[in-house]
Amino acid sequence: MASVHVLNGVNLGALGTRRPEVYGTLTLDDIQRMLREEFPGVDFEFRQTDYEGEMVGWVREAAGSAGLVVNPGAWTHYSYALHDALEATNVPKVEVHLSNVHAREDWRRRSVVSPAVDAVVAGMGARGYLAAVGYVIGRAVGA
Ligand code: DQA
Repeated sequence: MASVHVLNGVNLGALGTRRPEVYGTLTLDDIQRMLREEFPGVDFEFRQTDYEGEMVGWVREAAGSAGLVVNPGAWTHYSYALHDALEATNVPKVEVHLSNVHAREDWRRRSVVSPAVDAVVAGMGARGYLAAVGYVIGRAVGA
């Protein structure tokens, strides 16, 4: 199977210590390990950046892959550049949030990237990544 790209945006490098009561105690390395254990046959590109332009480039790089899972962090709520990059990348795409963004501050309830993805997962913690990758693989095998 072609690769699955799992892209994490701004401030997600601090997972594990950043507001554990909201985001849990797992680090991104833990989440990556979890994904590789759960889906041993998948070739993952697992990345994090705090730079919007870098993220846009990575989204475009995912063209031709089996699919893309993205947690854009706070860019979710205002980055039209990321929306446009996702819209231009024609693979199965899932937006993931560890927290339930609808149960928090008002400004987190709006995602400007959601119209450019196939599905959104929020509030399932790290398990949301498993669900998102499961969806992408299902699409790749026609399920
Ligand atoms: C987040 C939710 C965003 O509102 C926030 O800015 C983040 C993380 C989540 O995974 O719950 O950085 O995307």
